[in-house]
Amino acid sequence: MINIIVAAADNGAIGKDGKLLWRLPEDMSRFKNLTTGNIVVMGANTFKEIKRPLPDRINIVVSSTTLPREDLTVCKSPDRAIALASRFPDKEIFICGGQRLYEYFIDIADRVYLTRVRGNYQADAFFPALPPHFALQNCERVCDNGFETEFCTYVTAKN
Ligand SMILES: NC(=O)c1ccc[n+]([C@@H]2O[C@H](COP(=O)([O-])OP(=O)(O)OC[C@H]3O[C@@H](n4cnc5c(N)ncnc54)[C@H](OP(=O)(O)O)[C@@H]3O)[C@@H](O)[C@H]2O)c1
Repeated sequence: MINIIVAAADNGAIGKDGKLLWRLPEDMSRFKNLTTGNIVVMGANTFKEIKRPLPDRINIVVSSTTLPREDLTVCKSPDRAIALASRFPDKEIFICGGQRLYEYFIDIADRVYLTRVRGNYQADAFFPALPPHFALQNCERVCDNGFETEFCTYVTAKN
């Protein structure tokens, strides 16, 4: 099962200058609850931003330039990352950014955990449009640190 997890504004904005656009404690806690014990896959720029592997998760970074280290697996392509993650069939895979990774996985993911942040933001990184094969499974309105958000889950028809 490949999940995408993202917080994106109405205009798709997800980041600027390598950083997130907002601080959303409830969203962070949702992220932690969903991903802990599972596998997180991220691009090199997103890893640069978070600086260290996320605890209690298998961390895979897609990169041709990041140096491998004991607490981190580096794969040169998204396909290799998925092949590696598939060695742990009891764990779910979470694609957690950034734009490059979302663009690659949006057509093959099974589920999208989308936190929609209301409003349009200036950005240089964006989440792609959801393909029409995704259907809304549930959605909850949350005021998170003063931001109007919706925690939504989309699944593909095969689920
Ligand atoms: N709002 C959110 O939920 C959220 C979540 C995560 C990130 N973000 C934001 O997104 C922005 C970063 O996005 P980004 O697109 O610049 O960076 P990214 O996707 O995190 O990383 C891009 C890098 O990953 C490697 N990579 C990605 N796709 C690849 C592919 N198909 N084949 C080989 N290597 C690949 C390359 O690294 P090498 O150059 O090392 O080969 C590439 O330069 C930041 O602003 C961050 O804050 C937002």
